[in-house]
Amino acid sequence: MAKLSSLLPFACCMIFFLNAALVGARPAPSVYMDNGAYALFVFGDSFADTGNLPRSHLSEASREWYYPYGSSWGNNKPTGRFSNALVESDLIAQMLGRHEAPPTYKRRGSYVHPHGMNFAAGGAGVFSVPTGAPTLDKQVDHFRDLVQDGTITRGNLENSIALVAISGNDYARLANVNSTGKMIEFIEKVTTEIAKQVHRLRNNGASKILVNNLHPLGCTPWVTRSTNYTECSFKGNTGADIHNGNLLMKINTTVHDYILHVDVNKAFNNLVNPNSNAKNAMSASFKNKLAPCCESIDVNGYCGQKGDNGTELYTLCKNPGDYFFWDDVHPTEAGWKAVMKQVEGPIKKFLGLH
Ligand SMILES: *[C@@H]1O[C@H](CO)[C@@H](O)[C@H](O)[C@H]1NC(C)=O
Ligand SMILES: *[C@@H]1O[C@H](CO)[C@@H](O)[C@H](O)[C@H]1NC(C)=O
Ligand SMILES: *[C@@H]1O[C@H](CO)[C@@H](O)[C@H](O)[C@H]1NC(C)=O
Ligand SMILES: *[C@@H]1O[C@H](CO)[C@@H](O)[C@H](O)[C@H]1NC(C)=O
Repeated sequence: MAKLSSLLPFACCMIFFLNAALVGARPAPSVYMDNGAYALFVFGDSFADTGNLPRSHLSEASREWYYPYGSSWGNNKPTGRFSNALVESDLIAQMLGRHEAPPTYKRRGSYVHPHGMNFAAGGAGVFSVPTGAPTLDKQVDHFRDLVQDGTITRGNLENSIALVAISGNDYARLANVNSTGKMIEFIEKVTTEIAKQVHRLRNNGASKILVNNLHPLGCTPWVTRSTNYTECSFKGNTGADIHNGNLLMKINTTVHDYILHVDVNKAFNNLVNPNSNAKNAMSASFKNKLAPCCESIDVNGYCGQKGDNGTELYTLCKNPGDYFFWDDVHPTEAGWKAVMKQVEGPIKKFLGLH
């Protein structure tokens, strides 16, 4: 995700929108599968991207290709992931018995790896962003095109899982929206679009779909920096709650049992939110819950930034494992592992894995 340019201007309650569920029904295959039989197709943003963005010269948008990104990966290797090593999509792939997320769309060839393909791109949202990262709609177009031209085969699709990780980039542009009414209207548009794309994935052959909800945006270091990383923003978290309530209404898993909502919101809150009632035991393993391991010197700078003369314009912690957050918006690998541990049970049950 990108920075939330301003706190979401909400003060109030959960508001629900009564929209008809959009997703069409189609019977899911009920064949027993072992952990190796699923192809995984990944969509969304930097929580799931494993190298789809171009490796251009160092900038905020390409920092994932430069030190210290990937510095805990084997022999210190930036891989295009927004983390010190693994990200969410890798850990879902590991639940399927693999080492890491499936190969990226960017490196696609004439056939698709049996493990699937990753279409996610850092910075993406459901609406277009200035960096030009492909929107969720565009990513689903890429998937559909490969299905239609036969690159993705019926065999690939037969036992396929789609992951949809949309983590708030759309809300980054709302810095100057002060009207609660306008904000709620916009959340409505974002969640409608997510539901629409989930529908398209199903219609193009995805057999099971995992949909992330929105993590507590008010707890991201970019927001908490102004309090010296001591408190989450109530407004930011309420905005995420409204988004999530809305998403549950629009993607009704009672009606569409091939969809699972992945509750990353609760998992993040359990680990880092000082106000969260339901703490997770793993929370104690993070000495630093809201402060990032890699911190830009300038508030508007970025992890990995360098000055014209090559000086580092960021500080880096010694032990990323002690930190939940890696940079101003993304978890460390340790952070992701603690999040995914909490949602692993429901995901495995949903997929029929052991
Ligand atoms: C929103 O509020 C902020 C702070 O009160 C103000 O600086 C900004 O101009 C307002 N924006 C609009 C579009 O009214
Ligand atoms: C944050 O910490 C710095 C240095 O310890 C201090 O100067 C500053 O006043 C603190 N800010 C807040 C908002 O507590
Ligand atoms: C989902 O649909 C079921 C059956 O139509 C309904 O009872 C339930 O209230 C719906 N859930 C949500 C969150 O809208
Ligand atoms: C290098 O650049 C930074 C700012 O970009 C500046 O603060 C620093 O003094 C410079 N160092 C040298 C050795 O020129």
